[in-house]
Amino acid sequence: GNHHMMDDSTMEHGHMSHDNVVSLKDSTGVNELNIPPLLTSDATDRTEYTIKAQTGKVDILDGMTTETLGYNGDLLGPVLQFKKGETIKINTINELDQETTFHWHGLEVPGEADGGPHTTLSPGEKEQIEFKVTQEAATLWFHPHPEGKTSEQVYKGLAGLIYIEDSNSAKLEIPKEYGKNDIPLVFQDRIFDEQGQLDYKAVMNEDGTIGDTLLVNGTVNPVLPVEKEQVRLRLLNGSNARNFTFKLNTGESFVQIATDGGFLNEPVTLNEVTLTPSERAEIIIDFSQLNSTNDLSLINEDGSILLPFDVSNQEADSLKTSEKLNDFAVTDEEENMPVTKNIELFGMMEHVEINGKKFDPERIDFTQEQGVTEVWEIYNKKDMMGGMIHPFHIHGTQFKIVSRDGVEPKEYEQGWKDTIAIHPGEKVKIAIQFKHKGVYMFHCHILEHEDNGMMGQIEVK
Ligand code: C2O
Ligand code: CU
Ligand code: CU
Repeated sequence: GNHHMMDDSTMEHGHMSHDNVVSLKDSTGVNELNIPPLLTSDATDRTEYTIKAQTGKVDILDGMTTETLGYNGDLLGPVLQFKKGETIKINTINELDQETTFHWHGLEVPGEADGGPHTTLSPGEKEQIEFKVTQEAATLWFHPHPEGKTSEQVYKGLAGLIYIEDSNSAKLEIPKEYGKNDIPLVFQDRIFDEQGQLDYKAVMNEDGTIGDTLLVNGTVNPVLPVEKEQVRLRLLNGSNARNFTFKLNTGESFVQIATDGGFLNEPVTLNEVTLTPSERAEIIIDFSQLNSTNDLSLINEDGSILLPFDVSNQEADSLKTSEKLNDFAVTDEEENMPVTKNIELFGMMEHVEINGKKFDPERIDFTQEQGVTEVWEIYNKKDMMGGMIHPFHIHGTQFKIVSRDGVEPKEYEQGWKDTIAIHPGEKVKIAIQFKHKGVYMFHCHILEHEDNGMMGQIEVK
């Protein structure tokens, strides 16, 4: 009811349009989860790929056809798989009737290949980009970024995952069979109208559009068949604005093995993991060790069923997850570095801003030298309503969290990040370095906040 909206716990988490106020319908588990195809290269002798943004039609709901957008297909996109060290060419093609861009979220690429709002492709236009993969194994993603239109294009279906693999991920003992025990999972909440359409303009909320219907990899009411073994879930919160707190309905624990940009040093045992829009986490659930495997599902904080599991009696050979996954550290030097950039996030609805300003494509807000680490302090300043979480994202790099309100981050955040949830009143320090030159965006990843100008630019020289 309405009273609930104003109680303290809700205020902590955000404005009335947020979080659990619009609850998600439970997944009934009637549709087997769609597993996106892996994108193959255009020719066997080179790492060159083609990605088309196009319109589509999909029977998502029973007996209705939804008009959608997708990459190389009707809805969402294939999974791109790159190896560290490879030089990648991507032929990007815009087959939409509106301009778009191809942004590689979390990928460390030169500014001109990053696909920010300065690099739009008009309808019918193509462009080839090229870059070398210089970062470690991680689960990243791609989506459009045209100024003021990111939310609608993502909402209608433009998003896909990028996997980076390296010699470390190749040798680690972790589940790696794509679609069998290594599962891509893109969580998005949507609102379908009576005709089964995603009428973005009709449902858009300036403070972040929240839906009542969950799609996982574009599947409504999904179920995931698994065997009694360790299963790795690569979770992406691909929603425009909704935060998810994932847990098992039995309350049992699992381990987290990766953050946005790479593996944690060791698996961290948890009962839940929270992801704000665009954050990723990789978790491993050991289905051979759970007490009961009947009626098991991944649920949200509020108890709504996100993803039921259909656990077969098949006992698969269980491996033992490596104890040591990575070598990540915030150095003493980084811990003691003075803050050289201050970012203040403030406002709500269309009044959101960064350091008192709205995005201006002609204005460079900061500069930083290529290859030089700096410490930024990001402050989420409360407003009269108490404020809300802003997921703060920086393009073209992965950063380290030095502290949250002066305190070392929890173990599960001691890894590479490109997006960080900043709570109302909180100040976080991050150590950040750019490997490449160019102009990069930093912004709130509530997509309507981004489109409303909660975004700035840094030029790396
Ligand atoms: Cu997912 Cu500007 O980013
Ligand atoms: Cu990005
Ligand atoms: Cu925001």
